[in-house]
Amino acid sequence: MSYNDIFIRACRGERVDRLPVWYMRQAGRYDPDYRKIKENYSLLEICKQPELAAEVTMMPVKKLGVDAAILYSDIMNPVASIGIDFDIVANVGPVIANPIRTADDIARLKPIDVEGDLSHVIETIRILDRELNVPLITFAGAPFTIASYLIEGRPSKSYIKTKTMMYSEPKLWFSLMDKLGDMVIAYLRAHMAAGGKAFQIFDSWVGALAPHDFRKYVLPTIERIFSELADLPQPKIYFPGVASGELLPTLGHVQADIIGLDWRIPVAEGRRRLGGKFGVQGNLDPYVLTAPMDVIKEHAKAIIDEGVKEPKYIFNLGHGLFPEAPLDKLRELTEYVHEYSGQAIAA
Ligand code: CP3
Repeated sequence: MSYNDIFIRACRGERVDRLPVWYMRQAGRYDPDYRKIKENYSLLEICKQPELAAEVTMMPVKKLGVDAAILYSDIMNPVASIGIDFDIVANVGPVIANPIRTADDIARLKPIDVEGDLSHVIETIRILDRELNVPLITFAGAPFTIASYLIEGRPSKSYIKTKTMMYSEPKLWFSLMDKLGDMVIAYLRAHMAAGGKAFQIFDSWVGALAPHDFRKYVLPTIERIFSELADLPQPKIYFPGVASGELLPTLGHVQADIIGLDWRIPVAEGRRRLGGKFGVQGNLDPYVLTAPMDVIKEHAKAIIDEGVKEPKYIFNLGHGLFPEAPLDKLRELTEYVHEYSGQAIAA
């Protein structure tokens, strides 16, 4: 089968005859074959077996017909290498044995050793580079989102401990942002050297901040990460997570190619808030997938009609897939996006 690079061409702003589509969290529990693998192995155990992790990465490409693969891993995986002991607990998420609270906790964090501690991730990327016929997107969690797990110790709704450190001990906060920024830079650089074709930085929870606080406490590190990686030729995506519409006007100096939008903001309005400086990706509400197919198509059509008006647009969800997502409808949605966007572009 020939190589399908429509995702990369769209990221670069080249003319495409239909839209590329992939789904955040496209490898996962909505797929019965994935659930079968999970009966025998935990997420971390899958990640440590490169052949198996590569197989899980390829499953949605084969089943859904998407135009990109995303590495099967988790945003927490690299923190093992800087000295954090964590687990991914079923139906909870990341749980940290000893949360980061003090200057000593931060001082103890080590520099990341990708080739040493995370060689399984690099090996998985190498296998996928040989086997895939679509581009491989790799990813990292952004410093705020990772810090929220490291400080809270588990998923949080209020981010109270995270915000306490940020507002009360800014020196500590910025030293943590610096260390996590260094981690993300080294990790993604190694991914791209191993054969990754694009990367996305997930800042899933940073929409919890007001724009002025985002600008002060988080954005400098985001800008540094993208500027230090700017020499890489691969397309770069920043996803500022859920409820991030108010943050979009602050992103003008981030050297990313594409910004991911959540579902709360129309594509045209997202572009306007971004000052026309970026391509965009998104942004179907994932829970629309629970609706009948005609309702799903109606929502997708409205997004596509706006999306195709400018180059550099990638169809996706506004956040990740959820365990109850219906596989058959996802496959049909992918076909619909391909088919209808082709007509909309030709029109
Ligand atoms: O997108 C993909 O298909 C690639 C795999 C991927 C996983 N996690 C595997 C996973 C990706 C890209 C992630 C990113 C991730 N992990 C994010 C950012 C994306 C987002 O949704 O905002 C975040 C915040 C995490 C942290 C995390 N890991 C959470 C909140 C959970 C859910 C806990 C639960 O059980 O509901 C996880 C676990 C996790 N990571 C699962 C998967 C497939 C589900 C549990 C499992 O199958 O073991």
